[in-house]
Amino acid sequence: AQPPLIDPFARPITYLRVSVTDRCDFRCTYCMSEHMQFLPKRDLLTLEELDRLCSVFVDLGVRKLRITGGEPLVRRNIMEFFRAMSRHLGQGLDELTLTTNGSQLARFAGELADCGVRRINVSLDTLDPDRFARITRWGRMSQVLEGIAAAKAAGMRVKINTVALKGFNEDELFRLVDWCAAEEHDLTFIEVMPMGEMGEEERLDQYWPLTDLSQRLEEHLTLTPLAERTGGPARYVRVKETGQKIGFITPLTHNFCESCNRVRLTCTGELFMCLGQEDRADLRAPLRASDDNLLLSDAVREAIMRKPKGHDFDYSRRHVSGQVSRYMSHTGG
Ligand code: GTP
Ligand code: 5AD
Ligand code: SF4
Repeated sequence: AQPPLIDPFARPITYLRVSVTDRCDFRCTYCMSEHMQFLPKRDLLTLEELDRLCSVFVDLGVRKLRITGGEPLVRRNIMEFFRAMSRHLGQGLDELTLTTNGSQLARFAGELADCGVRRINVSLDTLDPDRFARITRWGRMSQVLEGIAAAKAAGMRVKINTVALKGFNEDELFRLVDWCAAEEHDLTFIEVMPMGEMGEEERLDQYWPLTDLSQRLEEHLTLTPLAERTGGPARYVRVKETGQKIGFITPLTHNFCESCNRVRLTCTGELFMCLGQEDRADLRAPLRASDDNLLLSDAVREAIMRKPKGHDFDYSRRHVSGQVSRYMSHTGG
């Protein structure tokens, strides 16, 4: 085996997030612009190329692989890719998983479970069908709920990802918590990050700090911090009254960059060393230039040496800084 990936700040890189497509069948308002142009198909890496790249990362010590998008399940033949990646489980890879909008889950849940996917994160920002249609621009909530039920029935653990949005889902806080408790899903709240072309004012208006959200929870519930981590950025609490687990992803109010263990690969073979920075390394060129995986590993190592200390997102002083102009769907969150 090769020496592991260690970045300039002594952080071991063991988590790769792979966006397999920039396309999505929804278009959440905070995630994609209304008129977003999708990438021409010829720019995409083939599934074979993605396989080769991911396998190089596993050789370099990556233990957790999360497939994202866009919506990963709209990429054609994506199950072949999951099947291929599942060969690494127990052979260096500890976890193969995905983040999805849930729209195609009813169809794929069984196959995903067969490929060794044990846990799945599904984005759901509201339990109100009209609001759901509004935030996703046209999505049908019932389709997602069916998908979630199928994932559970297939034996996968479900985690609901909810972006905390002021004036949008504030009044649904306890409804979401109660629903997840009843359905036995974990739940994670995410602070909205200033990504994509959106006005400062709109960004500030929708930002709901999780310090405030958790205070509201504590008015009715007893939250005990948990030491356990999943290798992702969330910090978890256990709710005494319901026994459920709730996570908080707080890039703004509690920066977690010092323990960052991840990098992101896009569907065109760019490697983003940080979600909140524009710097990227092109891995498609070395991938296509030679069949030698050692050259590819060298390109990855060089990229990791450029990993920055952290993001510069900041909403303080009534002003948004560190805004990143690409949308989240480009890098897969
Ligand atoms: P678990 O394996 O369940 O811990 O998942 P995860 O939190 O790693 O993955 P998920 O796809 O559920 O991530 C949820 C969201 O957290 C992402 O879409 C991002 O919005 C945010 N996030 C994940 N990693 C980072 C990071 O390194 N920096 C920042 N700023 N946000 C991140
Ligand atoms: N800030 C925070 N989370 C976002 N997501 C998409 N865009 C943003 C943003 N600007 C979330 C989605 C999904 C995950 C992949 O990223 O809701 O849960
Ligand atoms: Fe699609 Fe997910 Fe972005 Fe919504 S958040 S538009 S479901 S990629």
